[in-house]
Amino acid sequence: MRDFLLTLDELRARGGGKWRRHPADVLPAFVADMDFKVAPAVQAALQRFVDRQDYGYGSMDDVDVLYDAFAGWMSRRHGWRPDPKQTIALADVVQGIVATLVAFSAAGEGVIVQTPAYPPFLRTVAGSGRRLVENPLLDTGEHFEIDLDGLEHAAGEARLLLFCSPHNPTGRVFTREELEQVAGIARRSDLVIVSDEIHADLVFPGAKHIPMETIAPERTVTLTSATKSFNIPGARAAVVHFGDAHLKERFVAALPDFLLGRPSRFGSDATVAAWTQSEVWLHELMAYLEANRHTVSRWVESRTGVGYHQPEATYLAWFDFRSFGLEPDPYTFFLETGHVALSNGADFGGPGAGHVRLNFGTSAEILEEILSRMSRAIDRD
Ligand SMILES: Cc1ncc(COP(=O)(O)O)c(C=O)c1O
Repeated sequence: MRDFLLTLDELRARGGGKWRRHPADVLPAFVADMDFKVAPAVQAALQRFVDRQDYGYGSMDDVDVLYDAFAGWMSRRHGWRPDPKQTIALADVVQGIVATLVAFSAAGEGVIVQTPAYPPFLRTVAGSGRRLVENPLLDTGEHFEIDLDGLEHAAGEARLLLFCSPHNPTGRVFTREELEQVAGIARRSDLVIVSDEIHADLVFPGAKHIPMETIAPERTVTLTSATKSFNIPGARAAVVHFGDAHLKERFVAALPDFLLGRPSRFGSDATVAAWTQSEVWLHELMAYLEANRHTVSRWVESRTGVGYHQPEATYLAWFDFRSFGLEPDPYTFFLETGHVALSNGADFGGPGAGHVRLNFGTSAEILEEILSRMSRAIDRD
């Protein structure tokens, strides 16, 4: 396990935004980057570029290796064999969200988002001139679930459902029954489902990710990458897969050639190394994250009043601090009083007010320190 860990000095010496945005007395737990070393095969793939000073253009068939690796990984992990021919490589998933919004809806048309939602879902809908139709998840007291009546209603005024499965920030893994109901609604209202499944490999024991394309291939476009599960978001590589050839044709026809660009060779090779040689590493990572998830749950049990449902996937914990009356809002409170930088729930849409998201993809020591700082801040208030 020790092999995963980086010291605080090593983390602070890195160039990424997570450890640089705030002063050194603040512990960051916001952006979805983990504080771990990467899988050895991924590191070796990137090292090869450096050793050979190999920074030139790739060739057109580089993406074939990526598509095969994607198909093989999905089939081993999720029992779904995507057709490599119905795949297109991109630099990142958010780019894929904008591209699918543009391809499958028109300006002014409705796009359903299940809030709270990963903030770029909201920003891409607004930025592309589509109309946001929020369908908040329901908190049953036990977990979050899809408001199916609300979805049926929302579908009447929308072209597209921007789906996040597993769900960021709640960590919900939707059941087959829920997905089938969603597919039924999408069929009745002729919605395209854009399914962001970037967190699919970070599912804890007891839950099972089911790719939406295995349920409604004729209307589903899947977006994913290895960047969350293998901790390489800076490498920039992602894929979009179309459940049916006509969806790919519509997508290609709607976008001018070269608008999308391609993944970098670094991102592509790192992703292939992740998807073809790094399953054991992922297994060990999940065991580490499972222990951290347990630490977070124990902390919540000791702090009466925090609203929380243990995530079934992801290294993200979604906390409801509304009953604490933290001023001016929980995000600013924990940053200023606790010196912990969380994600601000208000950025996740209407139901996010009074909430924060904590990233527990860090060492047990740093996580303990983050939680004790939060406790001290609350006790001081
Ligand atoms: C649901 C979801 N989609 C997309 C992304 C970002 O993907 P990319 O960096 O490939 O744009 C994230 C990152 O946290 C995410 O949680």
